[in-house]
Amino acid sequence: MTASQIIQKHISFFEKRGHKRISNSPLVPENDPTTLFTSSGMQPLVPYLLGEPHPQGKRLANVQNCFRAQDIDEAGDNRHTTFFRMLGNWSLGDYFKKEQLPWFFEFLTKELGLSAKKLYVSVFEGYQNIPRDEESETIWKGLFEGAGIDPEGRIFYYSAEKNWWSRAGEPEKMPSGEPGGPDSEVFYEFDVKHDLKYGKKCHPNCQCGKFMEIGNSVFMQYQKKGDGAFVQLPQRNVDFGGGLERLLAAVENQNDIFQTTLFNSIVRAIELTTGKSYRNNSRLMRIVTDHFVAAAFIAASGVAPSNKEQGYILRRLIRRGLDNFYQLEGKEITPILELIVEEYKETNLYLVEKFEKIKGVLLEEEEAYKKTLHQAKRYIEKKYRGKQIGDELKGVTEVSSDDAFTLYTTHGLSPTQIKSLGYTFDEQAFAEKMKAHQEVSRKGMVKKFHGGLADHQEKTIRGHTATHLLHQAIRDVLGKHVHQTGSNITTDRIRFDFNYDKKVIDEELKKIEEIVNQKIKENLAVHFEILPTEEAKKVGAIGLFEDTYQDKSKIYFIGGSTSSPQDAYSVEFCGGPHVDFTGRLKRFKIIKQENIGRGQRRIYAALEN
Ligand code: GLY
Repeated sequence: MTASQIIQKHISFFEKRGHKRISNSPLVPENDPTTLFTSSGMQPLVPYLLGEPHPQGKRLANVQNCFRAQDIDEAGDNRHTTFFRMLGNWSLGDYFKKEQLPWFFEFLTKELGLSAKKLYVSVFEGYQNIPRDEESETIWKGLFEGAGIDPEGRIFYYSAEKNWWSRAGEPEKMPSGEPGGPDSEVFYEFDVKHDLKYGKKCHPNCQCGKFMEIGNSVFMQYQKKGDGAFVQLPQRNVDFGGGLERLLAAVENQNDIFQTTLFNSIVRAIELTTGKSYRNNSRLMRIVTDHFVAAAFIAASGVAPSNKEQGYILRRLIRRGLDNFYQLEGKEITPILELIVEEYKETNLYLVEKFEKIKGVLLEEEEAYKKTLHQAKRYIEKKYRGKQIGDELKGVTEVSSDDAFTLYTTHGLSPTQIKSLGYTFDEQAFAEKMKAHQEVSRKGMVKKFHGGLADHQEKTIRGHTATHLLHQAIRDVLGKHVHQTGSNITTDRIRFDFNYDKKVIDEELKKIEEIVNQKIKENLAVHFEILPTEEAKKVGAIGLFEDTYQDKSKIYFIGGSTSSPQDAYSVEFCGGPHVDFTGRLKRFKIIKQENIGRGQRRIYAALEN
């Protein structure tokens, strides 16, 4: 069974149970400033988990491309990848535990043919006023017994650290407004011996590699409030996510995902171009594979390597991938990229169309990296010229931790990369500087998360409605060929990108601002309708519409309605939520515009409080 066949089986299994397939969302999310990348299938569904009606109904399923930057340092073991595909199914206030758990069990044992004897599960042990999940335990007991297996020793209770899921992690880490809930995970047991290095006794969450988590059913029924308390959401949801790469590993009974049929041709290409064996170099080859796969997908999403946000992550992936590749004495990366596209094209055909672009991004970054290494060396040589530094015969140079840190902050080199240039330094002092530096960026990230649209604060909802007015006003002033290419809303400001290849002149900006304020003054009603997609297009709905599977769409009207579209000022495809009347926006002000390249401009704006 191939990875693509597992996807097909998943979709048709849930379609037969009343689910509608939804599209894979872009890897770089739209309208969500809280995160750089889509890292789970639920992320684009947050408004619907919080209670907004979804145009496709209450039962959804898909396969989602995901990227988790926090796993960069985990890559290299038998099961972690930064890029992966997640199978998902959702109940938006419809079915709950007693359907979800039996369905997943049936999917694993009947559709994928896994032996129930190899399966172990975990459930939530409780947290503050949220009870222990005995209902799931009872369901699992029944399922194992039904399969003729003694449930004793198969069901494990874990704390919120392991069996609670939200985008922010454990309950304490969640910002106010964030949805989350207890979860129940399924693990597959491989025929390998427990490694005592990881503890006396093996158990499903042991890190030794004997057990692998293959699916997680989240019972998303809580929301965190401003005072830290948890309340019930208006609806009880199921949010299931299962890693395709790991499900394939279980199907192939292969505890190293890089040896499954999905990855082994890529690994083989690395072996061929480097002349080294996977057996002796598995860690290096896993990192090369993972980082180049992730870099190919991120580059295909239109991201270019840079020193900030998504571009910075892409840069790190390519450079770290190259470090490991060079350690294997690899020279040419093109054959590996070709194999990656070949392997993923069945489910992501656009990689074929974008191949030249992907290749261009990686090869250019390789050149830039070589230049950086050269400049870093020149920086050190100049500073230490004439000084006796280290053992030159051995090619080792001792540099100060300050200089090593400069190589990190201004040349973007990691400690490993600095060492690979032949420099030694006080690593403890370096680590302390790094810690202080990371604390500053962590604070920035926390601030960002709190300011995001996802917390559904009134301020960000107002900003969201303002972008609809701004979008339409821009089209009124600059022409109908102009459309939104991205947006990002925080509690402080609105950022809006659109295709326009010249500067917007001051009079035009002023006019756009005036129109938005006029529409605010008219206090137009804002409402949505769920329409067949074709009809939505007929009434002139604009916006980012990409879901190829979706036959119904949610459309927001500002003024007017389907029966009187001529009275509407704006009609746009959108998940919501929005304010009910434009008057709530009070006053709108454009702060500045920027050229963001590739024929696009960016406007920053703000609303009066
Ligand atoms: N959203 C569930 C998961 O990522 O595991």
